[in-house]
Amino acid sequence: GAVIGIAPADAQPKREEPTSLDQCRRCELWERATQGVPGSGPGDARIMLVGEQPGDQEDLAGQAFVGPAGKLLDDVFAQAGLRRDTVYLTNAVKHFRWEPRGKRRLHKTPDQRHINACNYWLEHEIAGIVPRVVVALGATALKSLMHTSKVTLNSMLGKPVQHEGRWIVTTYHPSYVLRVPDEKIRESAFADMVRALQTAQRLAA
Ligand code: URA
Repeated sequence: GAVIGIAPADAQPKREEPTSLDQCRRCELWERATQGVPGSGPGDARIMLVGEQPGDQEDLAGQAFVGPAGKLLDDVFAQAGLRRDTVYLTNAVKHFRWEPRGKRRLHKTPDQRHINACNYWLEHEIAGIVPRVVVALGATALKSLMHTSKVTLNSMLGKPVQHEGRWIVTTYHPSYVLRVPDEKIRESAFADMVRALQTAQRLAA
């Protein structure tokens, strides 16, 4: 019999791209989040920092790195001699992923499918800012920036790579540094973050 019910490709309805973060339905994380949290910083920033996802405070404020991780970042900026307001700060995933724990909202690491869905927004920001250097803060950011789940944080620490016409510098996530119990390990992770921002400055100059 004749093949019916298959329309030619150009007759398919076009999938509309979301025009704003709060209308995004690329994954389900919008359902539990207060709002989408975009990046912020100067439009001509040479350095972009990419975190994981908004935390509890960022979700409520609608701004990246305003909570404890942001405070730790302030210390890293100060040590590295870099001004926070010269840098574009954003996240790989734009909605807070959490689950209830009593009265608290417990952070949950995004899955690869959330990273993939939200890469649309991160790439949009990169295309707009055109940074010379992107600093991946932790494995989630690194996976999004490199478009693969295979890359590991440890293999990239201290090894800037050129990717899609810009440098990627990898270091720890500030929340990791905040929760390492061992003081020596915490201090060396903090020092790696400082070194990463100094490397970023050098590569961006
Ligand atoms: N952790 C992140 O990765 N990003 C934020 O904005 C806050 C905490």
